[in-house]
Amino acid sequence: MNVLITGGSSGLGAAIVRKIAEAGHKVYFTFNSSVEAAELLVQQFPSCEPVRCDFKNEYDVNNLKDQIAMLDIDVLINNAYTGAVIKSHFYKIPATDFLKGFTDNVMPTIIITQAAISHFRKKKFGKIITILTSGLISTPPAGSAVYNANKAYLQQLAKIWAVENARHNIVSNSVSPALMRTALTEDVDERVLDQIIENHPLKALLTPAEVADAVLFLLNASQQINGMDIVLNAASNIK
Ligand SMILES: NC(=O)c1ccc[n+]([C@@H]2O[C@H](COP(=O)([O-])OP(=O)(O)OC[C@H]3O[C@@H](n4cnc5c(N)ncnc54)[C@H](OP(=O)(O)O)[C@@H]3O)[C@@H](O)[C@H]2O)c1
Repeated sequence: MNVLITGGSSGLGAAIVRKIAEAGHKVYFTFNSSVEAAELLVQQFPSCEPVRCDFKNEYDVNNLKDQIAMLDIDVLINNAYTGAVIKSHFYKIPATDFLKGFTDNVMPTIIITQAAISHFRKKKFGKIITILTSGLISTPPAGSAVYNANKAYLQQLAKIWAVENARHNIVSNSVSPALMRTALTEDVDERVLDQIIENHPLKALLTPAEVADAVLFLLNASQQINGMDIVLNAASNIK
């Protein structure tokens, strides 16, 4: 299958690119600042193709949108996220940060997914996989208002995509991971990480490779699996 993943050159995205490329799929991945990492991925997996796309740049997003039909994608993985996960408590966050978080993250995802769905409807097949967060299911971390609200918006869109497109043989599923060590979480204090590991039933943090396995499962799954969310949080929401 032809797969397009946003934010594929680092962290979870890179783990997904590796897993999917190893499984023999054609992978187009977007990158923004991780230029060297993108080049390295292409050296390792020559069938992968990088596409530069800055979600904060309208031209880049529209350019990617316009390429979707030509790339003839079968699968879209919405993975990129720009901006911090943890800011400050809600009442201290400048109100404009919420609009910026939405403009930088939700709007590009809407524009790219609309183009993907238009293309999928013509070919009567498609899969959308959206990366959310287990913070939507478990207790959200304090300070994550902008991040969690953006993910909640995408969570609802992912459900709508599933319902509206099921008859067109297009599915929309999501994956909601707990905390992983990536650039997005590099500011998390080591003591906090140690505490999370100590309290974890497996005494280990979730890894990007484990999440990539769940994404690969959805990629290979029957079109009967639609509107599902795979939560990777070691049952920490179950009281
Ligand atoms: N790490 C966690 O604990 C965790 C937990 C739950 C869910 N997630 C989700 O997993 C996904 C990947 O995050 P990650 O943990 O792998 O962190 P990451 O390594 O920081 O990855 C973020 C990705 O988004 C891309 N990105 C950043 N700014 C961008 C921009 N302006 N335009 C376009 N792309 C941009 C990055 O590309 P460049 O590197 O090329 O700039 C990178 O590939 C995100 O959706 C995140 O919310 C992460």
